[in-house]
Amino acid sequence: MSRGREQWGSKFGFIMAAAGSAVGLGNIWRFPYLTGVSGGGIFVVLYLILVAAIGMPIMLAEMAIGRGGGLNAVGSFRKLKGGLWPMVGWAGVVAGFVILSFYGVVAGWTVAYMFKSFGPLMSMAAAGGAAEAFQTFTNDYVQVIAYQGAFMLATIWIVYNGVGGGIERYCKVMMPSLYIILAILMVRSLTLEGAMKGVEFYLKPDISKLTARTVMGALGQAFFSLSIGMGCMITYGSYLSDRESLPSSVFIVTVMNVAVAILVGFVIFPAVFAFNMEPSSGPGLIFVTLPAVFARMPMGSLFSFLFFTLLFFAAVTSSVSLLEVCVAYMKDEFRWDRGRAAWIIGLACFLLGIPSALSLGDHFPRVFGMDFLGAMDFLSSNVLLPLGGIFISVFAGWSWFEGARQEVRRGGALPKPLETFWVLACRILAPIAVAWVFVGNFR
Ligand code: TRP
Repeated sequence: MSRGREQWGSKFGFIMAAAGSAVGLGNIWRFPYLTGVSGGGIFVVLYLILVAAIGMPIMLAEMAIGRGGGLNAVGSFRKLKGGLWPMVGWAGVVAGFVILSFYGVVAGWTVAYMFKSFGPLMSMAAAGGAAEAFQTFTNDYVQVIAYQGAFMLATIWIVYNGVGGGIERYCKVMMPSLYIILAILMVRSLTLEGAMKGVEFYLKPDISKLTARTVMGALGQAFFSLSIGMGCMITYGSYLSDRESLPSSVFIVTVMNVAVAILVGFVIFPAVFAFNMEPSSGPGLIFVTLPAVFARMPMGSLFSFLFFTLLFFAAVTSSVSLLEVCVAYMKDEFRWDRGRAAWIIGLACFLLGIPSALSLGDHFPRVFGMDFLGAMDFLSSNVLLPLGGIFISVFAGWSWFEGARQEVRRGGALPKPLETFWVLACRILAPIAVAWVFVGNFR
């Protein structure tokens, strides 16, 4: 490991940062809306299977590559094997850049809704006008871009402050509070009249809704929500000391991540059905359903503010991990200092995000039948991340196998059967399954 490289202060700090990266808009915004458009329970079941069978093994492989290489996503591949492998890291850096561009937009909506909690939004929502309010908002370009910019500034600021003093410090406070507020909201939503229809939609898999698209969507969601397939966990793993156990970190991070997604479903779907709304309304889902729930609660404005604040926390602990992948790359490979890298890349991401910011307005042209934001999301989650995942698992399972196995054993090994499963997953299961779903998607 190169001398003087930054490190996490503690294992707890690393886990909070990695979980902070995983838990984000992906769980709270993307998961419910995809579940809604994909027919409910069947999507949830697929997601869980794919997380366990493919997501966790790849996350473990990524952390091993990062700690073994001790560098950014590109540098780690070069140091461990060289050849064409660094291109995998490079594609990851590009993916991070693309994801962050639209991530900043949706996170900006979140910041806007923090403040709107105390405005006319609540009374509009109480009168059934939450969808209209959201639409008016996404057509207000100045506002949307201003909030996106504000969010990007927060992201840049934290990354600028470094691994321990920025990322770790904020994640340790923000993550735990998220679970508490989610639990409170879940109780409120489940006790609404008519809530059980939502629970049924959410939990009862309807096999007739199983299509190739659903599988692809669930796979993309597994990658996106675990922050894998683009070198994020490689970068975070590179700041981890040899004493810590990788498998236990993967386990804790995954459980924390899945728990948030599942809890959020119990907040959203009961409310959607209790208020006779459409579960399949798309990216606006939480911005439409949640205000309607809050408007019907005592102290709704306060809860709304709390919720969107915590969502902002969850988003920022994820966006910093995306930016950090690019910053670590520029820092290690081009000797940029952290501040310069954070500012320049952060601003470039903001600019690339502007078409996404405009694209939910009524007048923006569509790309391949999707809005621009949706297209960016599709390109990264359903194309770049799965491709990255295939190469990462092949790298750990074949090309750098002995090294990867040693790295996984260092600091606390897996029980034998699980290790065998991990090897099998990296060698065969993940590459074949992901490639199969991937190709099927384009037919
Ligand atoms: N996992 C985050 C979320 O669910 C988003 C994210 C952060 C991400 N880092 C990533 C997604 C790396 C893919 C790859 O919101």
